[in-house]
Amino acid sequence: MSGAGQEPQGLRKGPLRYEGKAKRVYETDRPDVHWVVYKDDATAFNARKRGTIAGKGIVNEAISAHLMRIVQERGGVSTHYLSTPAPGEQWVTAVDIVPVEVIVRHRAAGSFAARYGVAAGRPLEPTVIEWCLKSDELGDPPMNDATAVALGFASDARLAELRDAAHAVDAAVAGRFDEVGLELVDFKVEFGTDASGTLLLADEISPDTCRLWDRASGEPLDKDRFRQDLGGVEEAYREVHRRLLEGASP
Ligand code: TMP
Repeated sequence: MSGAGQEPQGLRKGPLRYEGKAKRVYETDRPDVHWVVYKDDATAFNARKRGTIAGKGIVNEAISAHLMRIVQERGGVSTHYLSTPAPGEQWVTAVDIVPVEVIVRHRAAGSFAARYGVAAGRPLEPTVIEWCLKSDELGDPPMNDATAVALGFASDARLAELRDAAHAVDAAVAGRFDEVGLELVDFKVEFGTDASGTLLLADEISPDTCRLWDRASGEPLDKDRFRQDLGGVEEAYREVHRRLLEGASP
């Protein structure tokens, strides 16, 4: 299990291990703990569009820490999150990332609406779970179960575990957003395995990785504002942060 109770203390930041589009991951003096620094950089369309969202790193770290706790407490899914040593920074359990991005969709939007030629906003029943290969070079191509198994990205048992965990994460996070007047339209999560082989929710849950529509106005309050040049990007991220962390208690 991760989270409170085994919080590390007084770690020192070691060498950079990995730099992604939105975060840098450093080693620490404990091999089982990584130090994540969230960036203000924003990319879309597989990094063909690049920009900066002022304050995003600090806001997304706080949102993700909050939602990781919700996932652990309400969803019963263990996560990599340990603690927040400074604004915009996290100590997390070191994991080997499973190279399967898990996308959960309640309504058609984004690449799904484009792929199937359906209107954005169309409700999806049942909830759609999709796998994509985690590969920036290949543009994260979608794959089915047989492809993931045949190419060695995950076993059948692992895919079943990912599907169950994704549904539990979804129920916890969608419920929390609902409490603050936000509809979770879709999101992407990543999982990893710790040194003992336990599956943990990893990466982040934030307006970078979720589509969130305001229940009252229908307005997107997420990275679609950046992708589609809708304006008010920083304000949207701050509004999600305000509702989750200054609104009703979790
Ligand atoms: P999509 O409709 O563009 O496939 O995106 C589905 C969801 O996944 C959406 O909430 C945004 C999120 N997402 C990421 O977090 N990272 C990515 O690289 C992509 C393509 C989508």
